[in-house]
Amino acid sequence: MSTTPMELNCDIKSIELADMGKKRIDWANQSMKVLQIIRKEFIKNQPLRGIRITACLHVTAETANLAICLRDGGAEVVLCASNPLSTQDDVAASLVRDQGIPVFAIKGEDNDTYYSHLQAGLDHKPQITMDDGADLVTLLHTKRKDILDGVIGGTEETTTGVIRLRAMAKEGVLNYPIVAVNDADTKHLFDNRYGTGQSTIDGIIRATNFLLAGSKFVVAGYGWCGRGLASRARGNGAEVIITEVDPTKALEAVMDGFRVMSMSEAAKLGDVFCTVTGNKNVLAKEHFELMKDGAIISNSGHFNVEIDIPALEKLSLGKRQTRDSVEEYTLRDGRKIYLLGEGRLINLAAAEGHPAVVMDMSFANQSLAAEYMVKNGSKLEAKVYSVPKDIDMEIARLKLESMGVTIDRLTPEQEEYLNSWSEGT
Ligand SMILES: NC(=O)c1ccc[n+]([C@@H]2O[C@H](COP(=O)([O-])OP(=O)(O)OC[C@H]3O[C@@H](n4cnc5c(N)ncnc54)[C@H](O)[C@@H]3O)[C@@H](O)[C@H]2O)c1
Repeated sequence: MSTTPMELNCDIKSIELADMGKKRIDWANQSMKVLQIIRKEFIKNQPLRGIRITACLHVTAETANLAICLRDGGAEVVLCASNPLSTQDDVAASLVRDQGIPVFAIKGEDNDTYYSHLQAGLDHKPQITMDDGADLVTLLHTKRKDILDGVIGGTEETTTGVIRLRAMAKEGVLNYPIVAVNDADTKHLFDNRYGTGQSTIDGIIRATNFLLAGSKFVVAGYGWCGRGLASRARGNGAEVIITEVDPTKALEAVMDGFRVMSMSEAAKLGDVFCTVTGNKNVLAKEHFELMKDGAIISNSGHFNVEIDIPALEKLSLGKRQTRDSVEEYTLRDGRKIYLLGEGRLINLAAAEGHPAVVMDMSFANQSLAAEYMVKNGSKLEAKVYSVPKDIDMEIARLKLESMGVTIDRLTPEQEEYLNSWSEGT
């Protein structure tokens, strides 16, 4: 199959990039063994036959394999980007040319284009929404209420999106059920921890070529992403400092052997800072005022609000681009602060996002959650639901199998023992 942008309603950078995109999609596919199994089942059983899906996700090689899997399951899929800087333009081109899947996404698009692409995704009149950060769902519930009635349900990929959707459900404004893919064990324990951990380090290094060994690396937030990032920074020889607001998480970081302190203290010490909190203004004016000359600041949380960039602009005499993905801010006292990737998730802005091996499990969850929604959506309330436990366990089982790892099974005696209360000493 070969489709041109003229034949398909889409908006991508250039169809000429498709050859490289195809290679990347194939490369990622090799590591997505669970998704391959699901795709085979989907081809046979067509569980998504005729279902319109609008997916608002990072347009990467791994996402391309998800889109192909959904399409092969019978769905009519349209893809738009969940972040203006995360699109791999060559992948978008191959999806259009080789798969005939409409894509609305261009790396570096401005805010207006970003939202016009989401609107184009919604023009598809989705029955299932697949979101990463809840921008698509929010737009649907505010400016595109006209098509809300046709939606069966949706899925959400990330922590920040799940938090927003739970807030919508609590206020009674969410109109349809959503499965929180992020909350599956086979998602956040691996994607957020190992995926974000490794790819964030990759993004920071690709952007700066900075030597982590011997540096002081400050991680804001010791959640799933923060844990992964801290362990990978330590593995690269950095002295890692954690900042937190949750006493239990802070205590865990202390017992994992990290230094824990307030950001006001850490600001004076850090060479590299990375926020992964899902919160806003975690690095703010009072912290920039304390930072060392040459401090590098970055974010890997979902939105570009974790670093107060307007405050940094106000403190600065000027800024200039010094490398791809690096802006140098010169403060009034002459100190320089380097902002990476415009404060957007640095693992996607300056690197390639999570490795396919972990996205395999995240997108296996997405595919099976979409199937679950098609089967059960009409019976569910307009709430945020967990991925059913049997789906989560099955993905773990398939992943282990694909890695050639065998585990023990409970004997009948052990099962009985675990289910009874009568046996003691
Ligand atoms: N870069 C990526 O590819 C990627 C992947 C997965 C998730 N995410 C995003 O990363 C963010 C974190 O996700 P997570 O799964 O680790 O969430 P999480 O809820 O497990 O962890 C967030 C942590 O940040 C802490 N925190 C909140 N405000 C803080 C503050 N002001 N200072 C210090 N700590 C603070 C919280 O107490 C919590 O422990 C979210 O925005 C999520 O959507 C990004």
